[in-house]
Amino acid sequence: MKVLVIGGTGNISRGIVAALLKRNHEVVLFNRGQHPDAPPPDVRVIHGDRRQREDFENKMRAEKFDAVIDMISYNADDAASALRAFRGRVDHFVHCSTVMTYGPPLPLSGVNIDETASLNGQSGYGLGKIATDGLLLDAHAEDGFPVTIFKPSYTHGPGMPVHRQVGGDGSWIDRLRKGKPILSAGDGLSYFQFLSSRDAGVGFAAVLGRAQCFGEVYNIVHPRARTWDEWHRTVAEALGVEAEIVHVPQETLIAISDERFGGLRGNFGHTQIYSGTKLARDVPEFQPQIPLVESLAENIAWMDKHNRIPDSDADDLEDRIIAAVRDLPNRFH
Ligand SMILES: NC(=O)c1ccc[n+]([C@@H]2O[C@H](COP(=O)([O-])OP(=O)(O)OC[C@H]3O[C@@H](n4cnc5c(N)ncnc54)[C@H](OP(=O)(O)O)[C@@H]3O)[C@@H](O)[C@H]2O)c1
Repeated sequence: MKVLVIGGTGNISRGIVAALLKRNHEVVLFNRGQHPDAPPPDVRVIHGDRRQREDFENKMRAEKFDAVIDMISYNADDAASALRAFRGRVDHFVHCSTVMTYGPPLPLSGVNIDETASLNGQSGYGLGKIATDGLLLDAHAEDGFPVTIFKPSYTHGPGMPVHRQVGGDGSWIDRLRKGKPILSAGDGLSYFQFLSSRDAGVGFAAVLGRAQCFGEVYNIVHPRARTWDEWHRTVAEALGVEAEIVHVPQETLIAISDERFGGLRGNFGHTQIYSGTKLARDVPEFQPQIPLVESLAENIAWMDKHNRIPDSDADDLEDRIIAAVRDLPNRFH
């Protein structure tokens, strides 16, 4: 199959390209050529900016692809442009959405959240994806446009720094390396799903050509949820160190610095376990199997290569919070 990936050098899309090549598909990328990581050798790249609508659509109409995987469609304008470029011209169109489309209630906290959950968006980003998804599903309802929508939860890998629960930049990796304690919100036992982009890539590649998946929406998540502290400790394991974790209520962190910790009001501050049952049924090849410590080691190596691990000594806020929290019991003695 000749497959176009819009994007293709990013975090998830790199995993998709690897999985497509392994399945012997002919792969073509569309991107601006600005990403610091080069595409695999021998993969043809069409350069352009998808937001330059006319140029993008003209370039796409001059080509013929069996399938398209659109990784960077964030709003109705992106989707409308993709429809002008590909409607009636491809056998399968896979769009990457997000679980951030689900809710209310907000903040969303729940287990076994499946594709029938209500849609209200957990952020402006989620709302943009709802609009994108809606337009593509309308096209399917109108004339059978062969779209399949995938909704990943947190998906890690080269191309993106390793996130931590309390947010911030990659300096927490430096903290771990230097043996400094790290903050975790609440008791560290809220659950999330952590999928490697290489495992995600297998799902995107394996769905291609399955007519029963047209007009369908699938969560694409790791079937095993983990606590945030398991994640933090596995990052430490990948670094060959022990994590010393200090727990602080998330509302205290937000009150200390909304700018730094306000993200905890959203998805990372709450247990969100999405159901992957529908994808497991229709695309059984999707069976995440890369050990977490291995995918994290790869992700950290990418951060080192691209200088994405700032010096933690440059900012003492975390040390001051930890010192204050450790001192708190003394006030009562
Ligand atoms: N990672 C997660 O946890 C997660 C969770 C849920 C959903 N998602 C979804 O995953 C998708 C992101 O996929 P990804 O990780 O592969 O992407 P990414 O890491 O953000 O990479 C973006 C890719 O798109 C290209 N690109 C960016 N802007 C472009 C433009 N205007 N025109 C043409 N090409 C452009 C980049 O190359 P150039 O810079 O060279 O153009 C690069 O190849 C998004 O749809 C996001 O909503 C991610």
